[in-house]
Amino acid sequence: MREEPSLTAPDPKTRPGTAVAEMFSAIAATYDLLNHVLSLNMDRHWRNVAVKELAASPSDLVLDLCTGTGDLAFTLVRRSGARAVGADFSRPMMDIASRKARRTGLSLPLAQADALALPFRSGAFDAVMVAFGVRNFEDLGGGLREMARVTKPGGKLAVLEFSSPKDSLFGAVYRVYFTRVLPMVGRLVSGRGGAYAYLPATVADFPAPPAFASRLRQAGFEVKAQRPLTGGIATLHLCQRTGAEPISGFSGTVAP
Ligand SMILES: C[S@@+](CC[C@H](N)C(=O)[O-])C[C@H]1O[C@@H](n2cnc3c(N)ncnc32)[C@H](O)[C@@H]1O
Repeated sequence: MREEPSLTAPDPKTRPGTAVAEMFSAIAATYDLLNHVLSLNMDRHWRNVAVKELAASPSDLVLDLCTGTGDLAFTLVRRSGARAVGADFSRPMMDIASRKARRTGLSLPLAQADALALPFRSGAFDAVMVAFGVRNFEDLGGGLREMARVTKPGGKLAVLEFSSPKDSLFGAVYRVYFTRVLPMVGRLVSGRGGAYAYLPATVADFPAPPAFASRLRQAGFEVKAQRPLTGGIATLHLCQRTGAEPISGFSGTVAP
């Protein structure tokens, strides 16, 4: 029988950064496979939508925060031709991103960094994007403020994050899948039970779109649109850094 390693998943209520980094480092080898299998490949579709909506231009410099194995950044580079920089505090996750960059010939400079203290100058990026990362922050407000700091005034932000579908038959079936089936398959494939129980716990703990919109505003972003994806399993939050002329082009509505 496979022995569960001593590593336990961080408590979703406190989630110290180092414990989160260790948890992602421990599942790095099976992360991509499980992502695609457990989401029935919806994760690829969601990243494509995020990149399309961000609509970066080839001259843009874009930060992919919590880049992990780099899939969002590679999608951006392939689809828009923009330059991407990846940042994450888990070296093993980024090692996989580096291997993908070598294999595909796509450029992705990487920085090992905590999202709460980024090693970039203020206003360094035309846009910032983050997929399935902010939910893990030890200090959500601090992380959002840091994202605002490195985005140039008027720059764009795309946050892709899990959310909870509304009460419906679909929502009920999904909840059983997400809280029971997914942790079991995750444990069997990765050998790390905690990480895949941590996922539904952090999603349940994460602010719903209207509350998250207020946190984004407090951090210095104007929320332009919040697009539920696949029945609300995920939500794409599209924002603009305040302090410059408003942009047009983001489609969707913002929850009241
Ligand atoms: C669920 S993975 C998402 C990876 C990638 N964005 C994707 O779409 O597959 C979350 C990533 O966020 C990183 N992360 C979480 N909190 C972080 C923080 N405070 N600073 C830097 N990276 C962080 C983890 O190391 C992990 O690689």
